[in-house]
Amino acid sequence: MSKCSIISVLLASLIVLSSRHLCSCDDKNDGSEARKYISWKDMDVDWRYDEKHGGVLKNGRSDQVIVVDKNGHGNTTTVQGAVNLVPEGNNKRIKIFINAGTYRERVLVPENKPYISFIGAPRSDTIITYNVKASDKDGKGQEIGTYYTATVDIKSDYFCAKGIIIQNTIVANGGYGQQAVALKLTGDKAVLYKVWITGSQDTLLDLKGSHYFYKCTIVGAIDFIFGNAKSLYEKCVVRSNAGVRKGAIAAHRRNDMVKDDTGFVFNNCVVTGTGKIFLGRAWGPYATILYSRCKFDDVINDARWSDMGHPSYTKTVTFGEHSSQGQGGHSDGRVEWSKIMSTDEIQSFWNISYIGGDQWLRL
Ligand SMILES: *[C@@H]1O[C@H](CO)[C@@H](O)[C@H](O)[C@H]1NC(C)=O
Ligand SMILES: *[C@@H]1O[C@H](CO)[C@@H](O)[C@H](O)[C@H]1NC(C)=O
Repeated sequence: MSKCSIISVLLASLIVLSSRHLCSCDDKNDGSEARKYISWKDMDVDWRYDEKHGGVLKNGRSDQVIVVDKNGHGNTTTVQGAVNLVPEGNNKRIKIFINAGTYRERVLVPENKPYISFIGAPRSDTIITYNVKASDKDGKGQEIGTYYTATVDIKSDYFCAKGIIIQNTIVANGGYGQQAVALKLTGDKAVLYKVWITGSQDTLLDLKGSHYFYKCTIVGAIDFIFGNAKSLYEKCVVRSNAGVRKGAIAAHRRNDMVKDDTGFVFNNCVVTGTGKIFLGRAWGPYATILYSRCKFDDVINDARWSDMGHPSYTKTVTFGEHSSQGQGGHSDGRVEWSKIMSTDEIQSFWNISYIGGDQWLRL
């Protein structure tokens, strides 16, 4: 070895050593590496309104914000185009700022792209809309089925969205195969804030993971919040458009008492709209649906809950209300297998601790 190469080896090891040392400071680093929690910051971009270009970033370009603008003033004209720009195995928060407008498209966020935020332009409508239904046929002539109808399909973890409207515009009129999902969630740890999710039958497929819905509006007629996730819906508006038909707000599919540990909890929500709908239906034997301190307009079926044609499930489901208010807050015909819960009984359900939020939410 020459003197020169010995020196370069020494130098190289020094660099490796010192960078190792730097790495050990990672936990204090508030830089671009994604953190294992979601905070308000993840749902905000610094933007201003510009006459000609609509929403533009205040500090010019940013490698952590991708701008979607249907008129061509952003990085892409479609939301999916922006998701495609996020690298696979992404490990830092990427905010997709979506300028006002109607985006007629289906959007898929794959499992390998975590830490994505969808942020709508404030004070104006940002709408993602489509219209696929369960009885539509795929390329081979097979019906696609409810699970594959979503307008927006989120498979990744640490997703959040703020200020957007997600629609499936199919209107169910009692006919066959009209289940039509607007939003499907299968990633873990998601926050939806001021998001409208609208549809008719099977609007929100809250299938898997722990999710926090805060100040959202969810619209539909039949089983319009369904799946086997563990979710807290807080200060949300739940709006039925069932009309004169029979519908249900939530259908939960917990199949196992121990293995699943899931449920839908509505805390401090307002339930309004039309129809005489059920609070929930027993899709799985251990379905868990609770309403705590919610206010109901006069739109609730007297029985309040349905076994969905499974009489045996009435022994195992957990369907309950705590401190219900409003004209529809009480009724005479409430099924006896549902519960009115005391403050003690509701405690472990009524805040973000229920969804493990102490670990992954800093709101
Ligand atoms: C978005 O556009 C800006 C401005 O043209 C550019 O600097 C930036 O690199 C683009 N971002 C991506 C992810 O392509
Ligand atoms: C949630 O409620 C429980 C019981 O009332 C309480 O012990 C806990 O501290 C609360 N968690 C949060 C995050 O407020």
